[in-house]
Amino acid sequence: MQSKFRKNFLIVSATIATLVSSTGALAQETPIKVGFMLPYTGTYAAIGNNITNAFKLYVSENGGKLGGRTIEYVSVDDESDPSKATENANRLVKREKVDVLVGTVHSGVALAMARVARENKTLMIVPNAGAADLTGAQCMPNLFRTSFTNWQPAYAMGVHAAKKGMKKAVTLTWKYAAGVESTDGFKEGFTKNGGTIVKELTLPFPNTEFQPYLTEIAALKPDAVYVFFAGGGAAKFMKDYAAAGLKNSVPLLAAGFLTDGTIEAAGVGGAPEGLLTTLHYADGLKNSKNDAFRLNFAKTYKTQADVYSVQGYDAAQLLGAGLSAVKGNIKNQDEMIKAMEKAKIDSPRGAFTLSKSHNPIQDIYLRKVVGRDNQLLEVSVKGLADPATGCKM
Ligand code: BEZ
Repeated sequence: MQSKFRKNFLIVSATIATLVSSTGALAQETPIKVGFMLPYTGTYAAIGNNITNAFKLYVSENGGKLGGRTIEYVSVDDESDPSKATENANRLVKREKVDVLVGTVHSGVALAMARVARENKTLMIVPNAGAADLTGAQCMPNLFRTSFTNWQPAYAMGVHAAKKGMKKAVTLTWKYAAGVESTDGFKEGFTKNGGTIVKELTLPFPNTEFQPYLTEIAALKPDAVYVFFAGGGAAKFMKDYAAAGLKNSVPLLAAGFLTDGTIEAAGVGGAPEGLLTTLHYADGLKNSKNDAFRLNFAKTYKTQADVYSVQGYDAAQLLGAGLSAVKGNIKNQDEMIKAMEKAKIDSPRGAFTLSKSHNPIQDIYLRKVVGRDNQLLEVSVKGLADPATGCKM
């Protein structure tokens, strides 16, 4: 016969167990909240939209769920403005209580966002910004990047230019982390292989008054000009470069952001035609994932996919890999991180894995603008990993 105490104890334990398992089940039924912090206005607006759309495309291809959990979204327009970044990220984490931060495009904004992710231990996936420190000195277990470091495509172009026999180059960019790191990356690849940088020109972001710089380039007569520009400003730069009469006299080289998603605005068959760039994506890549992705993206959004949509799609794939491993339990962050670290992402750019610092190890392609496309010429560097300087994890 059971004592009264033991009987009551069993009833209480059973009730607690039911409560715990039903709240656990309830937690699993509530949606995962994804906080998009991306630019939806300004020179990088189209980039933010393409990342958002492609992320959502992957989720909808998977029935609106990742790891068995419904995905819900909250968005903030970060305006590519670093001075508003901390407040915007805090709003998503503290007020909206998002489970994961996805952002952003602008390196300076991303660096501030990462500090908020660190303080709050929030999972953060970077679908564009190439700032070295994100997976370098500021690397952390809860931060992953599905894009690139600014160094990766730039370094490859520097090596290519020198190998083509170009000796003297001028660099020109917006003066902020992405531009400076990109032109430094070009310089490294170029000078290691015998080239010299004769002038480093910069202008404030997102200024598009290029004329004085074009006049200076014409006077310097270098063998090549390397630039970092992206989004709306990149389209304007290509038009101005051609209008200044430089296109046929001084080869224009760039990281592929110059011509990705910008050919239409710069004039198909005009200013961008024939430009050579390096990037981790090209329009005509032949793999079944890319074919399916491009078709679905174009059907859904009535516009062509570009590198930014690939990065957004892969951010959702990486989140999905983590959530599947923990059966949707995003609170099990340690296990989720381990699974994300081991993930092999079947990307439209070609499959990639992540380095120890959580940045893609990926092929860099040499591309040429032909009509509306950034056509693949060759693999410029195979499996390029960023040096991840200063990352201790
Ligand atoms: C950046 O700020 O890191 C960036 C912005 C646009 C294109 C590529 C990089």
